[in-house]
Amino acid sequence: MVKTLLGISASPRKLGNCELFIKEIFKQLGEDWELRLARLPQLDIKPCRACYECLFNQMRCPQQDDFLQVMDALAEADAYVVAAPAYLLSANGSLKKFLDRGLQFYAFVDELWGKPAAGVAIAGIEGMEGSTKRDVESFIKLTLGDLRGSAVVYGALPGEALLSSANRETAEELARVILDPAKRVSPVVPVCPLCGGDTFRFLPDGRARCMLCSSSGPWELENGSLRFHVSAGEHQFFLSKDDVNRHAEWLRGMKEKFLLRKQDLKAVVKEYLGVGTFIERKQIVER
Ligand SMILES: Cc1cc2nc3c(=O)[nH]c(=O)nc-3n(C[C@H](O)[C@H](O)[C@H](O)COP(=O)(O)O)c2cc1C
Repeated sequence: MVKTLLGISASPRKLGNCELFIKEIFKQLGEDWELRLARLPQLDIKPCRACYECLFNQMRCPQQDDFLQVMDALAEADAYVVAAPAYLLSANGSLKKFLDRGLQFYAFVDELWGKPAAGVAIAGIEGMEGSTKRDVESFIKLTLGDLRGSAVVYGALPGEALLSSANRETAEELARVILDPAKRVSPVVPVCPLCGGDTFRFLPDGRARCMLCSSSGPWELENGSLRFHVSAGEHQFFLSKDDVNRHAEWLRGMKEKFLLRKQDLKAVVKEYLGVGTFIERKQIVER
C-alpha cells in the first residue's frame, strides 16, 4: 500500500531550500511513498484567539481558515517532515503561528501520537540558526510525533542546501530513520535524557532546563563531558500519551478555576481599565 509523507514547509519561497530538502527526503524513501505538501506562509492560518473552544464540546476550532485542512492531512499522513528556514535567529513565524493553534492537537491524540517525523532547520549563515532546530523539534513533539531525527543544514540561495553532498547525506539519513526507528543515530552531544533535546537554559540555582520538554535538574561534568540529570516536571506535554491527556484535562479544569475566581479576577482587571491608548488598525479607504 502506498504511504503518505506530509512535508510541512515554513518557507514562503517556492522551490527554496526547505521545499527541496523535503523533496529530497521523500525521494530517498522509495517508491511506495507519495508526497503531500503544506507551505505554511501561503495558507490562511489565523492567530489563536484563546477562546479554548477546541478543548470542549465538538473540540473544533471555530475559525474559518486552512488550519483544520492541514490538521487532517497531518492526521492522515504516515510520516511527516518539518522544514523551517531561520529568520532572525528562529524559525519563520508561520511555524509558530500554526503551533499557537495547538490546543486543537488534543482532539487528534490517537491519530497523531507516535507518527514518525523528522525536522530540518535551514540557515543561510553557518552558526546563525539561533533556535531554529529546537523550533522544528518542538513542532514535532507538540504535534505528538515520534521525532526520529533532526538536523541543521546551511544554504542561503534557493537550492544551495542541496549543492552540498554532506547535506544530501543528511537527507538520506533522515529518510532512513523515518523508515526504521532502529536506525536512529546516537547523539554526539549532551542531550536531555528524557526527550533527547540538546537546547538548555542554565538556571541560577545550578540546574538546567531542557528547552524542548521543559524538564529541569542538576548537571555535572563527567570525564570532560556535560551530563544532565533532569526529571520530569508537573506539566509534561508529550513524554507519554498519558501526559498528553492529563495536560488536556488540566487545561479543561482551568474553566472551573476561572469561574471560582471570577470575582477576584474582575476586581484586578478593573484597576487597569482604560489605561493607555491602543494603536488602531488603519482604515483602508478604497478610492
Ligand atoms: C527575513 C530573513 C531573515 C533571515 N534570517 C536568518 C538568520 O537569522 N540566520 C541565518 O542563518 N539565515 C537567515 N536567513 C536566510 C535563510 O534562512 C536562508 O536563505 C534559507 O535558505 C531560506 O530557506 P528557503 O530557501 O527554504 O526559504 C534569513 C532570510 C530572510 C529572508
